[in-house]
Amino acid sequence: MNYEPLLQLFADKPGEYVSGEVISQALGVSRTAIWKQIRKLEAAGYQFEASRKLGYRLLSIPEKLAVEELSSMLQENIFGKTVHWFESVESTQNLARAAAEEGAPEGTLYIAEQQVNGRGRMGRGWVSPRGKGVWMSMVLRPSVPIHFAPQLTLLTAVALCRSLKRVTSLPIGIKWPNDLLIDGKKISGILLESAAEDERLRYVIAGIGISVNLEESDYPEELLEKATSLRISSGTKWTRETVIADFLKEWEQLYFLYQEQGFGLIITLWEALSVSLGKPVRLVTPQGDMAGTPIGLDASGAIRIQLADGSIQSVFSAEMGEPL
Ligand code: BTN
Repeated sequence: MNYEPLLQLFADKPGEYVSGEVISQALGVSRTAIWKQIRKLEAAGYQFEASRKLGYRLLSIPEKLAVEELSSMLQENIFGKTVHWFESVESTQNLARAAAEEGAPEGTLYIAEQQVNGRGRMGRGWVSPRGKGVWMSMVLRPSVPIHFAPQLTLLTAVALCRSLKRVTSLPIGIKWPNDLLIDGKKISGILLESAAEDERLRYVIAGIGISVNLEESDYPEELLEKATSLRISSGTKWTRETVIADFLKEWEQLYFLYQEQGFGLIITLWEALSVSLGKPVRLVTPQGDMAGTPIGLDASGAIRIQLADGSIQSVFSAEMGEPL
C-alpha cells in the first residue's frame, strides 16, 4: 500500500485538519478506505487526531534512526561496520543469531525501531516501544573459551556505562552483573546468548537495550518503580545515533584490549563503576538464597560475597536483590 499521496495531503497543511471529503476527492477513495489507511499509519507510529466534523489532523510522524548518518560515524570501526535496520521485529536477537549461523562477520549489527517480543534476562520480556530506544543485537566472535562468556557481559556493561556517562553526564552506575541504574532505576539491559563448540565460543549474540527517550506512559505501571529512561532522568531527549556510535566505539576498544591483555583492566573499571559493592544484599542463587556483602569481582568475573562469618564466597550466577 502506498501511503505517500495521503501523507502528502497532510504535509501540504501542517498542523491543520484535512476533511474526509477533501481526502476522498483527492485520492478517489471512500471514507472507509481513508479510515483504514489512517489506522494502518497509526499502527506504524503516526499519530492523528480525528474529528467527526473536521476530519483528520496529523500530530506526529514516527521517529526513524538515521542509519546512513550512524554508518558514517562508524566508518573506521569493526563494530557496526554493517548495520541492518528494521522497522519492527520480534527480537533483534533472533535476526543476529540467524545471521551468525550463516557466517555473518563480527560486528554485524541488527537494530529495530520496535520489538514486539523483546527478551530480557531470566526469561523476562523487554519493553521496546517504537522509535524511543536503542534495541540492537550484534554478532561477536571472540577467541576465548566458553567459560569466559560472563567476562564479556561485564565488559559490555563497563563500555555502556562509560559511554552513557560521557554522553549524558548522568550519574549512572552498574548493578551486578550488568544492569545500568540511575538512582536505583534501570535504564538499560544486556543479554548475551552464545553458541559453543568444543569448549570454544562459536559466536556470541550481544543484545543491548537502552531506554533512551521513553516517557512514563511507555512503561507498564508495575515497571515504573524499577525502570527509567535517559529522557525521564534528565528531562531532555537524546539523539540515538550519538548514543549508539559512542557506545560501539568504546565497546570495540575495550573488547580488543581485553582479548590482548586479559580481564584485569575490566575488573578495575567495573569495580569503579559499581553501585553494588559494600552494601549488604540478599542473593537468589541456583543453590539457594544467601545474604552477604559484595566486595569485588574475582579473576573469572564471579562476584565475591563476604558472609556474616567473615568468609568469602564467589557467586557466578544469581539474582541480586535491593540493599538490605
Ligand atoms: C535484561 O533483562 O536486562 C536484558 C535486556 C536485553 C534487551 C535487549 S533489546 C535488544 C535485544 N533484543 C532482545 O530481545 N533483547 C535484547
